[in-house]
Amino acid sequence: MKKGLFISIEGGEGTGKTTMVELLTKRFRTEGIEVVNTREPGGIKTAEAIRNNIFEFDLDEKTDLLLYLAARREHLLHKIYPALESGKMVISDRFYLSTLAYQGYASNIDIEVVKMLNSFVCDKWLPDLNILIDLEPEIGLGRKGDDVNRFDLKGLNFHKKVYQGYKEMAKDPTYNIKIVDGRLSINELENQMYNIIQNFM
Ligand code: TMP
Repeated sequence: MKKGLFISIEGGEGTGKTTMVELLTKRFRTEGIEVVNTREPGGIKTAEAIRNNIFEFDLDEKTDLLLYLAARREHLLHKIYPALESGKMVISDRFYLSTLAYQGYASNIDIEVVKMLNSFVCDKWLPDLNILIDLEPEIGLGRKGDDVNRFDLKGLNFHKKVYQGYKEMAKDPTYNIKIVDGRLSINELENQMYNIIQNFM
């Protein structure tokens, strides 16, 4: 039986997800809540090793998909699931919606295949809540400066498809997505996200 709360922070490049995961983790911890913060791809040694491969090599889109999912399976089984089972709050910098947005909506792979494989890997362990930081890719990519990976370099068109994909999914209540405005200040963004999580709890 799952007892904890599973939250994923989603969005395109340069939306401030990583900063928000850090700030929210600190805030909930000061309130005495046990929080496990993590990221995808990665979060544990094996999945971080897969992450390094994804970023180091210029791989085929289907290979990318399978690696993201392999990393997710290990991450889920060995970090997320045990934390939830012991009643902790898990805040992840990306999770399964990232695969739907990047590999499903923005790549050339049949989205139904992506959905099916994603569900296969997650079983029923989906986030209780996804918070999407809504920011146009033109602004997000501009914020990244020199700290770029091979996905940042895929071009604006690709990132626009990612963005549209997220927006499309946000309309579907089954994905359980709350949207926050990525143009807000760090402080305002943190407060809004904190309130969303509080209300959900
Ligand atoms: P980030 O850690 O800076 O967000 O970089 C992760 C990159 O991996 C980002 O470009 C999004 C991409 N990604 C996918 O394409 N599919 C996925 O399933 C996940 C988790 C990430």
